[in-house]
Order: sequence, then structure tokens, then C-alpha cells
Amino acid sequence: MCGIFGYVGAKNNAGQLVVKGLKNLEYRGYDSWGVACKVGETAVVEKDIGKISSVDESQFSEECGMAIAHTRWATHGGVTPANAHPHLNASGTIAVVHNGIIENYQTLRDDLKTKGYAFKSETDTEVIPYMIEEEMKATDDFASAVRNACSKFDGRYGILAFHTESNTLVATRTGSPLIVGVGEEGYFIASDIPAFMEHTKVVQYLDDGEMLVTDGKSILFTDLETGQEHPKREIEITWSVEQAQKGEYAHFMLKEIMEQKDSIARAVNQDEQQIQVIADAIKNARGTFIIGCGTAHKACMAAEYFFSVVAEKHINVTSAGEFKVHHHFLKPESLLIVVSQSGETADSLEAMKIARGKGAKVLAITNAEGSTIDREADYTLLINAGPERAVASTKALTGQMAVLMLIAHTMVDKLHEGKTLLLETVSMINDMLNPRYVEHIESLAEEIQNTEDLYIIGKSWNYPMALESAIKIQEVSYIHAEGFAASELKHGPLALIEERTPCIALLGNDEVTPDIISNTIELKARGARTIGIAPENNEAFDEWIKVPDAGAAQAIVNIIPIQVFAYFLAVKRGMDPDMPRNLAKSVTVK
Ligand code: F6R
Repeated sequence: MCGIFGYVGAKNNAGQLVVKGLKNLEYRGYDSWGVACKVGETAVVEKDIGKISSVDESQFSEECGMAIAHTRWATHGGVTPANAHPHLNASGTIAVVHNGIIENYQTLRDDLKTKGYAFKSETDTEVIPYMIEEEMKATDDFASAVRNACSKFDGRYGILAFHTESNTLVATRTGSPLIVGVGEEGYFIASDIPAFMEHTKVVQYLDDGEMLVTDGKSILFTDLETGQEHPKREIEITWSVEQAQKGEYAHFMLKEIMEQKDSIARAVNQDEQQIQVIADAIKNARGTFIIGCGTAHKACMAAEYFFSVVAEKHINVTSAGEFKVHHHFLKPESLLIVVSQSGETADSLEAMKIARGKGAKVLAITNAEGSTIDREADYTLLINAGPERAVASTKALTGQMAVLMLIAHTMVDKLHEGKTLLLETVSMINDMLNPRYVEHIESLAEEIQNTEDLYIIGKSWNYPMALESAIKIQEVSYIHAEGFAASELKHGPLALIEERTPCIALLGNDEVTPDIISNTIELKARGARTIGIAPENNEAFDEWIKVPDAGAAQAIVNIIPIQVFAYFLAVKRGMDPDMPRNLAKSVTVK
């Protein structure tokens, strides 16, 4: 949440460069934007509410070798120009952008007020330049002042700061990601790689509790507390600029939905030895827990069924934010599986910390190589979906489920059977996602776009997919959608059904099919407009969206028409599916 990007180096259009690059991080927040350019010995600041994508970067100075910029997802303080970053001290010599939360800002603010500081915003961030200024009373060295100020902050943050009298850019991190792009003409420091990908593919990761100082020619990583130097590896990233762009598609969400025929195949293509090591670790663990947030949590719920049905192994599923209360079940022999597209989600990171604190091992299933979750886990399986830019997660979910399905098969020595099943599924998805199919779903969305409520039911692994369907529809179309276990209908939700309420049933071709058909008939009898997503048509359905029969991989197939449906509901209702209101892609605050 919030994107930050800074540059220092030989290029003299730093302001233009950071604003342009930050447009690629708009998915992290789109409430307001801002940039501070060091021009001579002054900080020239531009900021406003609205999306950074609407800003014409050519307006910024071409005489600037250092700049920092920010795209905001509001936490403390409303969406106003005053609350937009960067924030400066009163004399305008210290400029700061920040991602995260300074939890003790209220105390610091009260203290600073008694010292005469006047605040212009309602943000937690504004204490940072003032705290640095206070520290500069004891030292001339800007980096030391930043270090000393940080020692007084509680919370999780990534900070970029510069002083107008020095040519160094300083970054610190405790919790919110910061990645350095190592270029031939300087250093790029951003919350995520797409900000600087057009300049370099060589990266270095700033870890939690670290600080970096760079003048654009060299860079020094140190321990934020002790100042001790930390050597860093350079890593070359493998994905391309094109993968991170929309190409021919109107929106990233549609592009990413359509990419699933390839991305699932990449997820399945895992190193077999590594999968075996992980399957053995799960078999030998005394208690396996699986956690994630939002859509990733629904992948975890689906995995509970995969592990139960395919491997006859029970795993404990919890939403990452709820994991804390279950910590007493963890032992050093336990295993925690953390599922996260971004690898930076605050609640998932916290769960991981709790597990490690108990001596348990951690397996990460993530899309983000080099992310905190990847680096801090004992084992990692990358889903290799390529960059997911739309806020609504689509291809990451199916990649996560494919990897989890593969692990379940490997646990019972059926790795190759699992691989074949998943690759056949990929081929069926390829056939399914043809233009006529997409048009059929679009026309259904056209008809249903004005509904106020929409319900989705599923059973077995289609139950978590019903919950996921609701998330997808809610977040991009703002229609009130809810998912239920089909068997639960009669225990309450059936009372919600009115004449022509759209109800979607997710089915496979398995032993629970007759049950869910009965539940769909019950819905129809109460006047619901029933839509079946199923391999075969049935008189229980008013409308039928055909999906291939994918056996144990049915959940992976069934969610795809729902993603397409949610996308078109959003577009028909005039919403931007890539940037849902109130949300951001990478949820780095708790
Ligand atoms: C919904 C969505 C979110 C994320 C959740 C976890 O479409 O994208 O619910 O799934 O915020 O994010 P990651 O997977 O990055 O941990």
C-alpha cells in the first residue's frame, strides 16, 4: 500500500523519471500523488489528489539529479492535497516519502508540538521530517540523523528521504518493501520492480532493519540500528517489461485472466526434487498450517480439500490475520505454509514471524521472487505467474492452486499424475477461453449488471471458489455478492432470495454434484435466476456456462468464467476493474 520511488544519479530529469516510473506502481494506491525534486539546493514539490497516471511528467524540472515520489493509499488522514506526500520540514530542507505506518506518531507529534513544530497535515508521516530535523541538531550527517530518528519510530515502514544540502538519498526499511535497481547511471529505489524496469533488471533488496545511502555513484547498505555494513548480492530479474504492460488489452485484469493458460503451465513446471522435499516436509510435520489473506486465503481453503481428497492429509487453514490466536498449536516440528502473491502482505508476514518464533518451518508459495516472504521462508515455491498488476488477483490464484494440487499429489507419490492432470487442465482452459466464450459471459454480465445482490454456491473445493467468486465480484463491480457452502442455504441464506435474484452454482462432475443440483433446484423454486457453471447442463439452470470436466482440478477451471464475469460487470457498470475504490494491491499494513 502506497508506492514510493526515488532516483539519484547522472540523469538530470529525475523528477520526470520517478513520476513516470511510479505510474507502474499505481496499483499500490491511487488516492493522491506527489514528487519532490532536488533542484540546486531547494526541494521543489508538486502534489495533489487523484491518480498519478493522470499527471503529465514533462512539467517537472529537467535540472534535477535526485527526486522522490509517492502514490498514496490513505491510512492516516483523508484524501487531501495537504495529506499527499512528500512531506517536508518547515524550512523545506528535508523531504520524505513513506509507505507504512508510524504507530507511535501521536506521541511523537504531541512532543514535537511542544517543541514548536506546526503540522500541516493529519498524516503519521509528517513527524518524520521533523524528527530528522530534531536529530540534525546533534549531527551534521543527514544519514545519521535519519538513523537516529528511525530508532524512535514504532511500526512498519519504508522511507525515502533527502536533504537539500547533500546529494545523497537515504532509505530505511522495517516491514514495507524497498528494492534497489542498480543502473549504469545511478540507483533507483522503489516499493516494487516495475517502477524502474525500463532502466535496469539488476536488483538488490533492502531487508528489514536496514538502511541504505547512495549518491548515485555508489551505495552502502548498513544495519539500521548498529550502522554495521551489510554486503549485498545483485540479482537479475527474469521477467520482461512487456509482461508488466497491458499490451492489446483494455485492462490488466482481462490480460491477466487470459494469460492463465500459460501462467498455470508455468506454475506446474516445478523442480521435481524440490517438490518432493516439500511434500516430505509436510508428511513429516507435526501439524501443518496454511494461511493467506483474501484471495490467497481462498487458495488455502481449496488446498484443504486437495490435501484431504488427494493425499488424505489434514491441514489447518486460517486467514493470516486470525493466525495469532492459534499460535499455541505450533511446535518446532510444525510447518506453516504461507500463500501470498506479493510476498509482502503484513498479516501473512506476521503469521510467519509467529511460526518462526516457535521454531516451526515455513514454506512460502509466492509469485514474488526476492520478496520478504520468499527470503524469510525455509522453502519457497514460486508460482511464476509473471507480474500481476490488477488489484483483483486472478492468475496468481490459479497458480497457487496448481502448485498446492501438485504438492498434494507428490505426497502420495503421484507427482506425474498430478502434473498430467494440471497440464490437461491448462489445455482445456486454452480451448475454453475463446472469443465466443468470452462474449457469452459478457452478454450475461450485460443482463445482470443492475442487480443489487448476487449469490454464489459451491460444495467441496467449489465452496472456497464460491467465496472467491464473491470477492472478485464485490471488489471490481461493487455489487453485493456473497458466497455460501451450498448445504448452508437452508440454514439461513435462502431467506435472502427474491424473484430473479441471480444465483450462481459452481459444479464439477463428482460425487457432490447431485447435492448441489438439489440446492440449485431449491433456489429456483424460490424464484432465483440460476446460473450453472458446470461441465454439463441441467434443468436446474436458467443459464449455463459450460466448463470442461477437469476432475480434481475443477476448482481451477470454475473460477475463470467468474473472473471474466466480474470483469465485465465492472466494465458495464463504468468501474475501473484495475483500480477498485478503497483497495490497493499490496497490503503492507495490518
Ligand atoms: C483480491 C485480492 C486480495 C489478495 C490479498 C492477499 O482479489 O487480490 O484479496 O489476495 O490481499 O495478497 P497477497 O496474495 O499478495 O498476500
